[in-house]
Parts: sequence; structure tokens; C-alpha cells
Amino acid sequence: MSYWRQKSVLVTGGRGFLGRAVCRLLEEAGCRRLVAVGRAEADLCRQEETERLMHRERPDVVVHLAGSGRGIADHLAGPARDAYANLAMGLHVVEAARISGVEKLVYVASADAYPRRVQPPYRETQLWEGLPDPSHAAYGIAKRAMHIVLEAYRRQYGLKSAYLVSTNLYGPGADFTEGRAHVVAALVRRFCEAAERGAEEVVCWGTGSATRDFLYVDDAAVAVLRAGERIDAPAPINIASGTEVSIGRLAETIAALCGYQGRIRFDPSKPEGPKRRCLDVARARRLLDFQPTVGLEEGLRRTIAWWRATRPSAAVVP
Ligand SMILES: NC(=O)c1ccc[n+]([C@@H]2O[C@H](COP(=O)([O-])OP(=O)(O)OC[C@H]3O[C@@H](n4cnc5c(N)ncnc54)[C@H](OP(=O)(O)O)[C@@H]3O)[C@@H](O)[C@H]2O)c1
Repeated sequence: MSYWRQKSVLVTGGRGFLGRAVCRLLEEAGCRRLVAVGRAEADLCRQEETERLMHRERPDVVVHLAGSGRGIADHLAGPARDAYANLAMGLHVVEAARISGVEKLVYVASADAYPRRVQPPYRETQLWEGLPDPSHAAYGIAKRAMHIVLEAYRRQYGLKSAYLVSTNLYGPGADFTEGRAHVVAALVRRFCEAAERGAEEVVCWGTGSATRDFLYVDDAAVAVLRAGERIDAPAPINIASGTEVSIGRLAETIAALCGYQGRIRFDPSKPEGPKRRCLDVARARRLLDFQPTVGLEEGLRRTIAWWRATRPSAAVVP
């Protein structure tokens, strides 16, 4: 981690879910200067604000984590916002980094960028083999496009970068807001509240048979730092657990950990996104020496404990 001791680092989205975990690790790594920014410091959808920010801070490394779109309900509600904001922020940050002479940029894309027809485990070489699932196509394509943008900036200007393709992240600090939460946070909230009310039934979206690959947020942060240290070119690198879990199994596990004893019913009329998702992690293992350290059950325990301790209504729930 001595790489970071000489570096001034700007983290966009630094107060977001992954951003906070990345900043904690950068502090532990003793990075020379750390600037975490959100919308209050600069609206990255505005080119001049982004260039002013970069000119003012003059970072050596930029970790670009600012993004728009969380969870299936949010993607369905705001596809144009997802397309515009993710492309605009990505382009402005890369161009401003180039102008300010940034040494390296770490970009985090999403497994939603993968084509819907690819079968698990998704390999990085398959990223361009078709269109993403329609439920998140705008978000997925905006994230995918940044791969080519970073390649172009490397070829024409020599800008070094890493392009990570992240699976579904979960853990303490996630957004649990109804309608904006990712699947783990949404289920933790629903089952914890149902257990406290003594509810007899909880309804979950989809069939329960769709699968996902879940990675604990602190493990993802380790991969982000390793990419900054070791990677200079934006060939995609998956970051994931490499383990496929059905939403039905996830719901049962969360329900049991929350102490919920009622029925779980799946509503197949609600969207569930791609049928299967699991990422090949061989490249991350080889290039980043990346190995997740927090298993799903332990990660869920920590997430549930965090939610129970910090949710706004914690003081009033009997
Ligand atoms: N969480 C996941 O499961 C997951 C999976 C795959 C990929 N990713 C990607 O990883 C990155 C981080 O995800 P996350 O879960 O940490 O997201 P998050 O919690 O939603 O945080 C996103 C951050 O982006 C900032 N932001 C949004 N619009 C902005 C704008 N116009 N100008 C400046 N900042 C803006 C927000 O700033 P404020 O704090 O000011 O609101 C926020 O801190 C994102 O790019 C996301 O697409 C996440």
C-alpha cells in the first residue's frame, strides 16, 4: 500500500456507499492527500464545475465513483437520468483529468453493462457481445461506453486508467430508502420490519429464481485500491465474489437472520432483471491478487446489525 503514501487522491462520490469504504482504506493506507467530493463540491454533470474542481485539487489519482442509478426500481424510473448523468459525469471527469495532468483514473462500471444473453460466469471478453437487459440498458450502456472512452484517452493522451466491472455490492452504509435500495438493502429492511410487526407474509419482486453475485462493500474497496496501485490500462476487470446465489435463497437467509417467521411470497408480475448473474473473477485474482474475505452470511449479519442500529426509527421501534 506504500503506493498511496506519495499520492494526492480525489474520490468522486466519496460520500457514497462505496466511496466511504474506499476513503476509509485510503486513509489507512496513509495517502498523502485525500479529497472526497459529492454534489455539494461540484456538479460533475457540468463540465466547467468539473474542470474547476480538478484544477483546484490537482490530484495525482482520481477514483471516479460518482454515479446515478441504484436498484431495479430506480433504473426503471429514471433511464434517461441514468444515461445522461453517467455519461456526462464520466466524460467530464476524464476530460478534466486529462487537462489537469492526472496520472491515473480508476473507473467503476457495473455488471449491468454485460449483455443480457451472456451466460454466467460473465467473462470480461464478453462485455461487447450484445445489449444489456432492457431493465437497465441505459445505465449499462453508459457504463460500458466509458471503457472505450478510457481506451481512447490512453491511446491519444497516454492517460493511465483502470476499468473495473463491479457486481452487486452490499453491506453497512448502503441506502435503504424504499425505491432506491439495491436488493440486499431492500430485503433487509422489509424482513426486519416484518419480523418486528409479526407480519405473516412478505412479498418479494420477481420469481425468486433469478441469481446474483454479491460482494461485500469493503472487499470491493480493496479491489479499487489494488487497481489504482497495479493497473495502468483500462482492460475490463470483474470484481465480484464469483458465487451465484438465487434471490429466493438470499430472501430466506435474510429472513432467518432477521428472525422473520412468516411466509415469503414471490410476485412474478414484478420485474426481476436478468435471469442469471455471476462474474468470472480469474482476471481479478491474477492481476489484483483479489480474493473476497467476507462471506455472504457474515456480510448479511453485519448489514442487518448496522441497519438496526442506525435506521432513523431505531429509537421508536418496540
Ligand atoms: N452499489 C453497487 O452495488 C454498485 C454495483 C456496481 C457498480 N457500482 C458503481 O459504483 C459507483 C459507486 O456506487 P455507490 O453504490 O457508492 O453509489 P452511491 O452510494 O449512489 O453514491 C454515488 C455518489 O455519486 C455522487 N453523485 C451523483 N450525481 C452526482 C453529480 N451530478 N455530481 C457529483 N456527484 C454526484 C453522489 O454524491 P452526493 O453524496 O453528493 O449525493 C454520491 O455520493 C457508482 O458509479 C456505481 O454505478 C455500484
